[in-house]
Amino acid sequence: MGHKSLLTALIIALTVYGLGSCNSPAPKENNPSAPATKDTVVISQGLNSKGIGRFTDVKLGHPLDEAMVSRGQAMYLAKCMACHKLTGEKLVGPGWKGVTDRRTPEWIMNFATNTQVMLDKDLVAQSEMVTCVVRMPNQDLNDGQAREILEFMRKNDGKN
Ligand code: HEC
Repeated sequence: MGHKSLLTALIIALTVYGLGSCNSPAPKENNPSAPATKDTVVISQGLNSKGIGRFTDVKLGHPLDEAMVSRGQAMYLAKCMACHKLTGEKLVGPGWKGVTDRRTPEWIMNFATNTQVMLDKDLVAQSEMVTCVVRMPNQDLNDGQAREILEFMRKNDGKN
């Protein structure tokens, strides 16, 4: 195969596979009656997982801290919106609807601040990676920003 046809084949393959798309595992998880697949097993193992990183005990407040929510929203608009929708629909990464139900606060904050390590070593994060063509880049959030994003996600999930 010459260079040109190789390139054409690559472009076709990427188009068919959906470049930059991510098949969100969310629907399977949200449907407990769905037959158990290899995927579901990995995910359910991870439901209580705190992930890997410096957050081991995140305290949630009630009601939500609206000032944190709006800072989290600003962060979302600036750094996350390009790849994450607020619905359950995938974009480059999984949609955020329900993320606070399927992941622990610690897991979310560890993932947001320790992304590459989690993608390399965390079972749950890896189960998403196989469905996402693009690997999430480190976002360089500090602890406060990660907590604000979490508060914004809780708001998005209708928590109070
Ligand atoms: C360039 C695209 C991109 C950007 C920008 C991005 N992400 Fe992601 N994110 C992904 C992908 C892709 C995944 C799925 C895991 C993987 O394959 O890397 C993901 C997964 C996640 C998950 C796990 C979701 C779940 O359902 O388990 C969280 C939480 C997350 N990202 C938070 C963030 C935050 C917070 C920001 C902004 C500060 C952000 N992401 C910015 C691409 C991105």
